[in-house]
Amino acid sequence: MKLLMFGPPGAGKGSVSARIHGKLDIPHIAAGDIVREESKKADSKVKPYMEKGELVPDELIMELVGERLSRDDCKDGFILDGFPRTIKQAEFLEQKGIQIDRVVNLEVDEEELVRRLSGRRMDPDTGEIYNINTMEIPEGVDKGKLVQRPDDKPDVIRNRIGVYKKQTQPLIEHYRGKGVLRDVDANPALPEVVENVLAVLKDA
Ligand code: AP5
Repeated sequence: MKLLMFGPPGAGKGSVSARIHGKLDIPHIAAGDIVREESKKADSKVKPYMEKGELVPDELIMELVGERLSRDDCKDGFILDGFPRTIKQAEFLEQKGIQIDRVVNLEVDEEELVRRLSGRRMDPDTGEIYNINTMEIPEGVDKGKLVQRPDDKPDVIRNRIGVYKKQTQPLIEHYRGKGVLRDVDANPALPEVVENVLAVLKDA
C-alpha cells in the first residue's frame, strides 16, 4: 500500500505512522526526519528554513524524498509522512508514476495542536517521542534528559500552523477529488486514533 499521512503540525502523523507501519509491513518515511538529518550537515541548506518553521524549497525536498523512495524497501509500498506539502510536490509524485492508494487526513482542533507541540519531548538516546502535556511519561524514563525540538517554540509553532494552512491545506481537496482521501478525527487519545486510521485503510 502506498499511503500518505496528512495533517497539520502536531496532528500525530509521526506517532500514528510509527504504530501502524509494522502492522502493514511497509517502511515509514518521514520528510521531517529526512530534513532534520540533513540539517546536521555543516553546509546544510535546509536548517534556516526548518528553524523558522518555513517549508524547505520544493527542489531540495523533492530530491531528498525522491532518493529515499527509490530504495528497494519502498517498492511494495510505504507510509509517506509530511510529503507532499505543496501542489508542486504532489505533481512530482505523479510525474514519477507513483500511484497513491490512500491519503489519511488527520483532523485536530488548533488549540489541541498547540498543546501537543508545546509539550512534545524526545529522548535523545532512543528517539522515542513523549508529551508532558498530553501523556504520562512512563516510569523509568529520565524526564531530565528529554529535549524539545527547536521548532516547537511558541512563535515557530504559530508560523508552522500558518504555513500549513496556506501551502499544504489546499492539497486536501486535490486528493479528495481523486477519491483516495479519508478524514480521521485525531482529537481523541492515540490508541483510538490508530484504530480509526486502520479502519479507513481496510478498503484501500
Ligand atoms: P515535520 O517534522 O514533518 O513537522 P510537522 O509537519 O510540523 O509535524 P510534526 O512532526 O510536528 O507533527 P506530527 O503530526 O508528526 O505529530 P507527532 O506524532 O510528533 O517537519 C519539520 C520541518 O521540516 C518543517 O517545518 C519543514 O521545515 C521541513 N519539511 C518537512 N517536510 C517538508 C516538505 N514536504 N516540504 C518542505 N519542507 C518540509 O505528535 C506531536 C505530539 O503530540 C507528540 O508529543 C505526541 O506524543 C503527541 N500526540 C500525538 N497524537 C496524540 C494524541 N492522539 N493525543 C495526545 N497526544 C498526542
